[in-house]
Amino acid sequence: MTIDALYPPLINGEFKAATAETFPAVNAATGEHLADLTASGQAEIDAAVAAALAAFPAWSRTPAAQRARLLLKVADWLEDNTDRLVQIDALDIGRTVFELPQDYRQAIGQYRFFAAAIMTHDGWTNSVQGGWALAKREPLGVVGQIIPWNVPAIMVSFKLAPALAAGNTVVLKPDENASLSTMELAKHLAEIFPPGVVNVVPGFGETAGAALTALPDVAKLAFTGSTEVGRLIAHAGASRLVPVTLELGGKSPNIVFLDIDDIDAVVDNTTFAATFCNGQSCLAGTRLFVHSDIYQDFLSRLTTAFRAIRVGSPLDPATRLGCLVSPAQGERVTSYIESGRAEANLVTGGGRVEVPGNEAGWFIEPTIFETSNDTRIAQEEIFGPVLSVIRWTDFDTMIEQANDVEYGLASGIYTSNLRNAMRTADRLQAGNVWVNQYVNLADGSPFGGYKNSGLGREVCKETLDMYTQLKSIMLAEQVPAPFYV
Ligand code: NAI
Ligand code: MG
Repeated sequence: MTIDALYPPLINGEFKAATAETFPAVNAATGEHLADLTASGQAEIDAAVAAALAAFPAWSRTPAAQRARLLLKVADWLEDNTDRLVQIDALDIGRTVFELPQDYRQAIGQYRFFAAAIMTHDGWTNSVQGGWALAKREPLGVVGQIIPWNVPAIMVSFKLAPALAAGNTVVLKPDENASLSTMELAKHLAEIFPPGVVNVVPGFGETAGAALTALPDVAKLAFTGSTEVGRLIAHAGASRLVPVTLELGGKSPNIVFLDIDDIDAVVDNTTFAATFCNGQSCLAGTRLFVHSDIYQDFLSRLTTAFRAIRVGSPLDPATRLGCLVSPAQGERVTSYIESGRAEANLVTGGGRVEVPGNEAGWFIEPTIFETSNDTRIAQEEIFGPVLSVIRWTDFDTMIEQANDVEYGLASGIYTSNLRNAMRTADRLQAGNVWVNQYVNLADGSPFGGYKNSGLGREVCKETLDMYTQLKSIMLAEQVPAPFYV
């Protein structure tokens, strides 16, 4: 597998930077230097936005069918190159080769879904007195998009597919911890799309990201990442009165009822919900509410399941838990574990695992705490393989606690009783509810948060509404007879 020595930004169809400043991409497990990327600054962001602005008139008038055809090419290329890109992501961010292919299946689905959805994303026409009324959907212009490091292929697809389908041009900033697979994709985007339609600028948040949010020619901002930075993006949007879509953090409740059919299947699924993506997912089911009548049995099986998770090299197909993305993330997760030790009961895990040959990596033992809902580990997003288990008896109290966090992204319910499932789903303050499963973002199903988890919905046809605005056109059959003067 080849990785370039240097990845400059894609601006106006070319890979060129004004600045010579770079930053390294580092193997998350070994600390090995993988490549350098341009640390895009004001000059690159200015040039990228100018290119996107110049490309907008022609791209916005390109027939939807043609835009859709180009998105389908992206999907095909990703399908043909999944194996290679999975290897790159595994090196770059420490996710396992076992689960990364699913990221690519999800991403590919997004390009295909939006290629199809844009073909039915109609305005409307009505006959009115003496003429016609039309409502037409038009793209917004240049969209600035900023994404995080945990699921790069998915994040790029959630952002690019709807924006481009709808006829916008894009400046995308990947995360400084996870840019390699995106820059590899950018090489292909440069071949598919006319110059300036898609621009990809690697760089840091405080510089490249902040510059992108501040430029007056950017007509919409879309962001995924921390709630803290999400607020900054929302402020930037507010100051220029441009729309903002935000997908932020989560602290999702996963609720186990007494009446589950197959306890081991639920144990397996809730284990997956808390630890997939090495626990670094905004969707993770990190607060597990278990009914008290099965609590001890469930917790003991869960503990066995957590201990059985194979921690190891991200490149080993048998590994289920790789390493955290960076030392900074390692320290962050470790500090949460320390706070958990002080305020809750550690059931299993809590330590750092040494994986021979991967000493630089932050491998964290799958960790379970027994706690109440009001502790710091139960309230804040940890972004590591750390689960808070909470015992419940009374339904209303459990629902109150499930909703008693600042977030409202996802949630899960395990029950064999339809009434339990639906009355719980109705009352959860969460954008996504899964029943007897976790993390199913089927193409077309709305994804996004309540409360501090964000604004807007991705993955679904309504996303196209967020990348367009309505124009009303009224036509009279003829100019009315004079009546005014
Ligand atoms: P972050 O929110 O700082 O980074 C996400 C993106 O925002 C990156 O591309 C970064 O370069 C950019 N960014 C940072 N500061 C910016 C600014 N001032 N202006 C414009 N762009 C800016 O997230 P970070 O620091 O990597 O992770 C911290 C925590 O955030 C994690 O532990 C996790 O709790 C949460 N997070 C949530 C994610 C989600 O999927 N909702 C993804 C990543 C992190
Ligand atoms: Mg940050």
